[in-house]
Amino acid sequence: MKVVVAKTAGFCFGVKRAVDTVYEQAGQAGGAPLYTYGPIIHNEEVVRDLEEKGVRVLNSEEELEQVTEGTVVIRSHGVSRRICEKLEAQGLRVVDATCPFVKKIHNIVREESEKGRTIVIVGDGSHPEVEGIRGWCSGKAYVIESPEEAERLKFPEGTRLCIVSQTTFNYNKFQVLVEIILKKSYDSIVVNTICSATHERQAEARKLASKIDVMLVIGGKHSSNTQKLYEICRKECNNTYYIQTIRDLQKEWLEGRRSVGITAGASTPNHIIEEVQRNVRIKF
Ligand code: F3S
Repeated sequence: MKVVVAKTAGFCFGVKRAVDTVYEQAGQAGGAPLYTYGPIIHNEEVVRDLEEKGVRVLNSEEELEQVTEGTVVIRSHGVSRRICEKLEAQGLRVVDATCPFVKKIHNIVREESEKGRTIVIVGDGSHPEVEGIRGWCSGKAYVIESPEEAERLKFPEGTRLCIVSQTTFNYNKFQVLVEIILKKSYDSIVVNTICSATHERQAEARKLASKIDVMLVIGGKHSSNTQKLYEICRKECNNTYYIQTIRDLQKEWLEGRRSVGITAGASTPNHIIEEVQRNVRIKF
């Protein structure tokens, strides 16, 4: 049986960096309080494992306010300037694992809003990454995610805008919204801040699924990017199966097949991918 694991399966660069940072800090903490501001990734198993190593999750600003000592790791999504200041004011040690690509957006919106541009963020306003970006804008910022919202945006003629995007936003959708705004008589600069990691993972999965007999997509129950990966692979390969761990794998899926492709959603840890790979190789 030929088994091919997609190179882009699982964690992207920014998430891997953040998770590694927390494990590293946990190893050095020596009993001192260690927190992450929000769960480090949407993977219960990883969060539980870190909990066993003494890492606690601060789920809200209120919870953060109760903390008076220790280290707080900022996850890859980043946080607003206000949260950064709060952490500092409370005398906490901060380890910033904000993805550099997100940090770059913070810098763009901070600089451009200081120069007087109104910031428009294309993305999901309730997502922590967007909340963080918004929190680096001086003055008002607007978040839009649909063509209707783009149409509804109204500023005086000649208003100076700076349009950026949430890193995981769909590129085609971003283009549509940007075009709606550019048709109006504003003075706009557009910075495409979409990260290529999601697109690359999807493109590789599509290619792999078109070449093999069975495709396995690994990911969490509630992971929307895993769901998307599954749909993409399913279009290319009828024998595409979605599993959370090796326990979900059914022997009959692989019977009589010669090649298996494996990919995984953005919050799937490497060891889960490796376990599936190993078991497919050994047992089937
Ligand atoms: Fe990941 Fe950073 Fe891109 S967290 S999706 S590499 S913006």
